[in-house]
Amino acid sequence: MDDFKRPSADSGDDKAGGKAERFSRSGFIFAAIGSSVGLGNMWKFPYITGLYGGAAFFLLFTICLLLIGIPVLLAEMAIGRGGRGSPAVALVRLSGQKIWGGFGLLSIIGAFFIMSFYAVVAGWTLHYGVLTFSRALGEGTDFAGEFFDFIGGFLPVMWQLVVMLITGWIVLRGASGIEKFNKILIPSLVVILLFLMVRVLMLDGAGAGVEFFLKPDFSKLTNESVLVALGHAFFSLSLGMGTMLTYGAYMDRQQSLGSAALAVGGGDLLYALLAGLIIFPTTFAFGIEPGQGPGLAFIALPAAFSAMPAGWLFGGLFFILLAIAALTSCVSLLEVPVAYSMDRWRWGRPKATIVTSVLCFLVGIPSAISVGGAVGGLHWGPRSFFDWTDFIASNIILPLGGLIVTVFVGYVWRDAGREAGLTAGWFIVWLFILRYVAPLLIVLVFLHSSGILKF
Ligand code: PHE
Repeated sequence: MDDFKRPSADSGDDKAGGKAERFSRSGFIFAAIGSSVGLGNMWKFPYITGLYGGAAFFLLFTICLLLIGIPVLLAEMAIGRGGRGSPAVALVRLSGQKIWGGFGLLSIIGAFFIMSFYAVVAGWTLHYGVLTFSRALGEGTDFAGEFFDFIGGFLPVMWQLVVMLITGWIVLRGASGIEKFNKILIPSLVVILLFLMVRVLMLDGAGAGVEFFLKPDFSKLTNESVLVALGHAFFSLSLGMGTMLTYGAYMDRQQSLGSAALAVGGGDLLYALLAGLIIFPTTFAFGIEPGQGPGLAFIALPAAFSAMPAGWLFGGLFFILLAIAALTSCVSLLEVPVAYSMDRWRWGRPKATIVTSVLCFLVGIPSAISVGGAVGGLHWGPRSFFDWTDFIASNIILPLGGLIVTVFVGYVWRDAGREAGLTAGWFIVWLFILRYVAPLLIVLVFLHSSGILKF
């Protein structure tokens, strides 16, 4: 049990190798928004909104995020700060029971899996940024052919390596480096988003896209929409993988957890709103079908941008935006196994960062080359290696991790209320959600997304 001794509050002795790392108050908010705002907001959210019901789906997503996502986010942050440690040790310290160490293992497996395909897609965005800025994607290009040729080759591995190098370089600098990086990039993201939004809202026909995104038609919803919305609220807030828990461990003791969780959840929602206000007006103005799935950002949008005056500039900015959002999330994903190995095996940060970055890169290679079929034989059953890792991480590990967090705070950890610092009324609401509502819904999402139950 010695490994899991409760550290003396903030004495700084709770990390390997001396002084504990900390975020400043605003640093935590920026880093956590950086983690939550990512490809989930800019790439996945628009295409699932297109597929599962437009504005009505957006409304459902908002409700799931506020009602379930924020309480679970608060729970993860409280565990991280209360246990002052990574998922490897925080739950064990708080409960005194070794069995909760399993969550740590689950979260590093989850982080590795997500990272392995996430860094690949992040690499695509860099490649498309370069292509668009160099004006290689002019009007009349065969955009679908271009995309499939690219992902079917070996170039994605090179871009994935670039993503891992940048990510590793930032994580190497620890909490203060992560904070600095996010404090520069997250505001830049808003500026680019607003600039692009103003431009696309001026396009002829943009209004139909705004209507599709903001005027709900409830007849478009299915039972599946509800589950997809909840699953996405978890993915978008980076829950269930120990990322928010790991960042929570670097939080200031005096910072209010409730307002931090609201700020992060609200920030994530705002970015999703802005992304939708760019993507739907653009697709509608150019007569592109919004429900076409994952190709939306890499095939449909470059086509639309190429038809705009100075489209290379707007298209290039769009891909820079995607790349920044993806990198800030990659940093939080890599930090999970890095913090874990520092806590668990007392490694120093440089060793932890180098070893885990190399491993993440290696695990990601099969993803990078399987999705476009560059190498045959990396398909099992209906899915490629890439699709399997996405499926296992997003549909199985993520809900399972979320369930563990809700059960732990709802039923096991007695001091959760004190750590969260909520008023008595809010505490009751929070506990009610964590004990009854969230676990039930998470189990439903799990049964549905793993294919066990069909609705
Ligand atoms: N929240 C990120 C996004 O929306 C993805 C992510 C999931 C990051 C889990 C970290 C952990 O893109």
